[in-house]
Amino acid sequence: MSDVTPEALIDAARLAASHAHAPYSRFAVGAAVLLADGSVVTGTNFENASYGLSLCAETVALATANAQGRLRDVVAIGVVGGAITDAGLAGDAPVRPCGRCRQILNEAAQLGTGDLAIHCASGDGNTLETHRLSDLLPHAFGPADLGIG
Ligand code: THU
Repeated sequence: MSDVTPEALIDAARLAASHAHAPYSRFAVGAAVLLADGSVVTGTNFENASYGLSLCAETVALATANAQGRLRDVVAIGVVGGAITDAGLAGDAPVRPCGRCRQILNEAAQLGTGDLAIHCASGDGNTLETHRLSDLLPHAFGPADLGIG
């Protein structure tokens, strides 16, 4: 197991958020996926002029981990987001993964380590809370229900 702290994961997520493509919502989100060997894979939200096609930061980070053949190695994710201002990200509410992202996180969890730590930080940097995916998405439908695992 790695010694990457939740704070370090959020730092990586915040750096990623600086590359968010979010001209429509003006709300930038960064996600940093921690792998079992201590390496980190990041993603940002990636919006589209056809609004409904937009991708969340967590989904982009997980798809990138998968593209590296590492979906089963995910142990945690850090998420931070907030309104884009000249001074950085604003807002005192920690960003918790949306419902769709929780389901996508569950794919990594069930195929891999079983459960994930979800570190959620506010844009203003004052709040960091940690959840387990199994608490955020109880009784999840997943690969095991299809006999995959
Ligand atoms: N967003 C994320 O990237 N992750 C979340 O967990 C919540 C929302 C993005 C989607 C959209 O680009 C913007 O934040 C505002 O909803």
